[in-house]
Amino acid sequence: MAVANAGIRKQPGSVLDPLWFKDAIIYELHVKAFADSNNDGIGDFPGLMQRLDYLQDLGVTCIWLLPFFPSPLRDDGYDIADYMSVHPSYGTVEDFRAFLEAAHKRGLQVMIELVINHTSDQHPWFQAARNAAPGSPERDFYVWSDTDHLYSDARIIFTDTEKSNWSWDPVAKAYYWHRFFSHQPDLNFDNPRVLEEVLKVLRFWLDMGVDGLRLDAVPYLVERDGTNCENLDETHVVIKAMRQAIDERYANRMILAEANQVPADVRPYFGDGDECHMAFHFPLMPRIYMALGQEDSTPIIDIMAKTPDIPENCQWGLFLRNHDELTLEMVTGDERDYMYLAYSGDPRMRINVGIRRRLAPLLDNNRRRMELLNSLLFSFPGTPILYYGDEIGMGDNIYLGDRNGVRTPMQWSGDRNAGFSRCNPAKLYSPVIMDPLWGYQSINVEAQMGDPSSLLNWMRNMIALRKLFQVFGRGTLRFLSPSNRKILAYIREYKDELVLCVANLSRDWQPVQLDLSDLVGMMPVEMIGYVPFPVITEESYPLTVGPYGFIWLELQPPPVAA
Ligand code: NOJ
Ligand code: CA
Repeated sequence: MAVANAGIRKQPGSVLDPLWFKDAIIYELHVKAFADSNNDGIGDFPGLMQRLDYLQDLGVTCIWLLPFFPSPLRDDGYDIADYMSVHPSYGTVEDFRAFLEAAHKRGLQVMIELVINHTSDQHPWFQAARNAAPGSPERDFYVWSDTDHLYSDARIIFTDTEKSNWSWDPVAKAYYWHRFFSHQPDLNFDNPRVLEEVLKVLRFWLDMGVDGLRLDAVPYLVERDGTNCENLDETHVVIKAMRQAIDERYANRMILAEANQVPADVRPYFGDGDECHMAFHFPLMPRIYMALGQEDSTPIIDIMAKTPDIPENCQWGLFLRNHDELTLEMVTGDERDYMYLAYSGDPRMRINVGIRRRLAPLLDNNRRRMELLNSLLFSFPGTPILYYGDEIGMGDNIYLGDRNGVRTPMQWSGDRNAGFSRCNPAKLYSPVIMDPLWGYQSINVEAQMGDPSSLLNWMRNMIALRKLFQVFGRGTLRFLSPSNRKILAYIREYKDELVLCVANLSRDWQPVQLDLSDLVGMMPVEMIGYVPFPVITEESYPLTVGPYGFIWLELQPPPVAA
């Protein structure tokens, strides 16, 4: 007898909940930066496979791989020259397949990049387009114009490099459109053949068993004159078509929108639960740093108040840092000025509209601040995304170009090249960090593994704790409004799980009185040490929180009389 979902492909051996991404903890890494197995100075898939023990032990549940496809690497692989292969420096498709299988065997999901707004100018599609006759289907794969005046309301994103979103191609004798670097021509989604090709790419990787796809630069797929060419209805039509193609054939997969927009403009990327499963919460991230810098909960509460509800089957992706600059595109002018002043004293720390530093240096290497920000990341509504190296408090190198300062080799040990590679140091794809404060001899995995008090062990414990409670990934959020604004207090609730989180954003001890009168009789139990706190009464509930401290309290029902 035919079953309703015959033909739907699951990952081999999968027992996944279709909403697995809501309970996930995502770890973002670049293959080139993680571990080098053949000592050519570049990380590779066999190297990554050897480090799966580490990721499993850390407790993350999903690995997000930055682009690993053949590419001239002028935008760290976001300039793709072949969508269905692996860059030879990182291995082969077979190596990728073996990695995917090994990850799945350990119950780890894998998310990869689907970069479809643009290709490299070295992609055969672009080479064919520039040589084809104007108006031909080949030429139509990209967006051309005889002038550079069209779409003049679209902003420039890489402000430090590009003066225009148009570049002249002497072969085609026409201008081509690019929202990013001039070597990254935008694909033309008005040509139905482009979507057909994109769907082939998507199926290629989903057939292999990939669990998730990050849709890079997704707001810019379609352009129309007289608009800012972002978030257009026509772009949402393309995303819906992609989602439909996924749902028709595959189970348990996820697509994540990289839409760096205000929350109201990100909301449509979830559609009615029929576009993306996830979207990054870009605007929350700078507000967390502002709240910390200003010792005031207001920026966080404000941005969450502006965050619309999303469909039941969808999820926010939360992060503190990633492989790009800490973007300040979606904050006001005043907020941007504050962020630059507070977090990028040296102008070299700035790039485009943002700050190119890692988490630990942004927080002055202050362990309490790192724990505080991670506690917010782990307890806010959404799925936390960790950037490789931040779990050990790795530093950055602001003397490297572009965003390469936050993409240096993973620091595994105090051995040569940080244990990343045995090659001649001159051969490394990037210098390792070597100064006395941030260098691999002081900050590395091996040392922190052996230190029960290390940041790494703290992160591992927090990840394990978070995984015990579905409320963090799935529950509602309600802020309390204590008069002490240096304190951020909120309640998360899911089914019978109820958690009160209290965070002190200031450098000093802080008292706070919380109105918990709707929770009278509940007993708060501190979740790290399992320490019972006084039962909640009609009176306001007093707490004292240390500098940059935070408390997670599980609210348990009153014990039933025997
Ligand atoms: C977003 C990626 O995160 C970034 O690294 C890249 O430069 C742009 N998209 C352009 O592809
Ligand atoms: Ca290698």
